[in-house]
Amino acid sequence: MYLNRRFVVISVYFILINLFGLFIKYLEYADYFLCYDDECREVDSPDTEFDYIIVGCGSAGAILAKRLAEDKYIKVLVLEAGKHGNSLLNIPSVGLLLQETLYDWQYVTVQQSRSCFALNNKVSHWPMGKIVGGTSMLNNMIYVRGHPEDFKEWFRAKEDYNYITDVLPYFEKLENHNFRGFGMPKVNIHKGIRSTTSHHLVNLNKQNIFLRTNRFVEKVLIHHNFEAYGVKYSYLDKSYFAKASRGVILSAGVIGTPKIMLLSGIGPKDHLDELNISSKLNLPVGENLQDHITTGLDLVILNQTIGIGIEKMLSPYSLFEYFWKGTGPWTTCGCEVLAFINTKMTILNQNNNNNNVRPDLQFMVMPLGINEDNGIHLRHLMGISDYTWNNYFAFLNETTTISILPILLHPKSRGVVRLRDANIKSMPIIDPKYLSDQNDVAVLLKGINLIKKLIQTNSMQKLGAKLNRHVFPRMRTFQI
Ligand SMILES: Cc1cc2nc3c(=O)[nH]c(=O)nc-3n(C[C@H](O)[C@H](O)[C@H](O)COP(=O)(O)OP(=O)(O)OC[C@H]3O[C@@H](n4cnc5c(N)ncnc54)[C@H](O)[C@@H]3O)c2cc1C
Ligand SMILES: *[C@@H]1O[C@H](CO)[C@@H](O)[C@H](O)[C@H]1NC(C)=O
Ligand SMILES: *[C@@H]1O[C@H](CO)[C@@H](O)[C@H](O)[C@H]1NC(C)=O
Ligand SMILES: *[C@@H]1O[C@H](CO)[C@@H](O)[C@H](O)[C@H]1NC(C)=O
Repeated sequence: MYLNRRFVVISVYFILINLFGLFIKYLEYADYFLCYDDECREVDSPDTEFDYIIVGCGSAGAILAKRLAEDKYIKVLVLEAGKHGNSLLNIPSVGLLLQETLYDWQYVTVQQSRSCFALNNKVSHWPMGKIVGGTSMLNNMIYVRGHPEDFKEWFRAKEDYNYITDVLPYFEKLENHNFRGFGMPKVNIHKGIRSTTSHHLVNLNKQNIFLRTNRFVEKVLIHHNFEAYGVKYSYLDKSYFAKASRGVILSAGVIGTPKIMLLSGIGPKDHLDELNISSKLNLPVGENLQDHITTGLDLVILNQTIGIGIEKMLSPYSLFEYFWKGTGPWTTCGCEVLAFINTKMTILNQNNNNNNVRPDLQFMVMPLGINEDNGIHLRHLMGISDYTWNNYFAFLNETTTISILPILLHPKSRGVVRLRDANIKSMPIIDPKYLSDQNDVAVLLKGINLIKKLIQTNSMQKLGAKLNRHVFPRMRTFQI
């Protein structure tokens, strides 16, 4: 009985996932035939000058545009490579489905040497939004302030830094809540709908903000090797120039921004020389790349389902709940519990509200295992190899698993972003050098040990929690 039901659910899921894929393809072609937006001509004419040009309408670009345009005499041009979203793409849980579509830059890292053994070719997928809203259209929407210590390094003179006056007011301007310790995550959702800085910008509809989509910025135009005065971009395969009298702001994301700078001749001179890009400013652009790596997918087994499963997601009642009430499983951010801890302290100490200690580990509790969809979709987003799937995850196919992901907050490993060649269309070289610093391994291991303790707690034991004892396929098998 259970198996039959599960079979039906998985089949329906399979069909819906493919229909969604077709829908996204349809959006792409519909857009193509409508020839994008046409109010653009005046902006794309060479004589128009703006006060500011903002490159990229993601989390950062959208809010910058909004703030700069508060002065109605300031003209702001926002150039975004992606397209506008729509109300279906605003459904919180749809964000995950935008990965590996035209709304994702589909970046991948180079082969890693000390990590990513479970992934195809030891390559990690880096989803990033190519859409108005940028990565905030496909992320988990979790709102976290961070620790006061996190912002200190932004200040050149550390003694000048005062959290209460320099940082806190900006958080307070945004929020109606605060968070610390263990608890439910706060999310950027308004009436059940994904809410991003770009939604605020688009809803403003101001006369002095010119948001232009499908505009792919190729380089910054620079006078005398230091003064930016505009950008070169392409639109429908033609090149255009736009000028700014006050400033050009690059907010094209952690990969897009260094890529544009390097192509503009701003970056390490030896790297630019190798690619025959004339060097304008010798700066360490693309260095110091950091990513908060995690591990331990499907590590915890329960004896019952909790929260959201695929069946609940697909139930017509969930559709009703979302569209009529703005609630239900479609509004999930995918993470039910969030925690910040310092691995040098015991879990008990964390409850003492000792906020002076900067956490080094975050726990994200995902109520669903990656095995939940029988390997149809989720695992491909991550690039989990067939070998790992068949020798690890497939064994869990009739088991309820959850993931308590230990996330490294302050990695010591440092990576780089480099250009492959001088072609704007080429995928950049992304090398996070995951786990190249042994400290990172040590913190993650402590995280796994804490998970072992956590599942011994009464609350977890009531759910029949135990550690998944399947041995992970040996790393050696993956060496290429
Ligand atoms: C799967 C996932 C889950 C996440 N979950 C969370 C979370 O729960 N909470 C959280 O706080 N953070 C989360 N993050 C991180 C967060 O989403 C990003 O840090 C944030 O969105 C980055 O903002 P940004 O403005 O720097 O870049 P983006 O939002 O990526 O914006 C960059 C914009 O620039 C555009 N662009 C790039 N190149 C060009 C070009 N050449 N010309 C024109 N436009 C260009 C892009 O299309 C994009 O719209 C998550 C990230 C991922 C990938
Ligand atoms: C750079 O230019 C030199 C001399 O013109 C040429 O030999 C070399 O192949 C070029 N390198 C690249 C990466 O284009
Ligand atoms: C789960 O895997 C086992 C062994 O790999 C297999 O016999 C069984 O049919 C699978 N069940 C489902 C629901 O896929
Ligand atoms: C799960 O395990 C707990 C603790 O052992 C037990 O009380 C509970 O009845 C079990 N639930 C199911 C559905 O087996």
